[in-house]
Amino acid sequence: STIAVLNGPNLNLLGTREPGLYGATTLADVERRCTEVAAELDLDLEFFQSNHEGALVDEIQRRRDDAGIVLNAGAYTHTSVAIRDALAAGLVPFVEVHVSNVFAREAFRHHSYLSDLASGVIVGCGADGYEFALRRLAALTQR
Ligand code: DQA
Repeated sequence: STIAVLNGPNLNLLGTREPGLYGATTLADVERRCTEVAAELDLDLEFFQSNHEGALVDEIQRRRDDAGIVLNAGAYTHTSVAIRDALAAGLVPFVEVHVSNVFAREAFRHHSYLSDLASGVIVGCGADGYEFALRRLAALTQR
């Protein structure tokens, strides 16, 4: 079964962007680690990153037959009804990931348009959060 790892705006800059908040791990490092874990769990992975809201909506729509989605929607988490609606339409289980602890940051990061639809939410575990999300989705989809 296929799991998609989707990243939103500015996550292409992971590893160089505000390293005090987001750490030194790059998105390429994240994808490499996820690929190792996927081999262990016998999952097919596909990766997608975009800085554009509509491109993320298109990608989520394309994923409607996938087994699951690992999603870090970045700032769109806190703003995007369109991404929420795409997730609601597809009904593919997804785990929401945030590298930083959004609850220890500005108040506008405390609300997510996505969390109540998510199968799980992983916050503040750094880049390891992606691996945790993948393992959780694998367990959910094998039930
Ligand atoms: C983020 C948290 C968001 O608030 C922020 O806009 C991001 C990254 C995280 O992974 O911690 O771009 O999703």
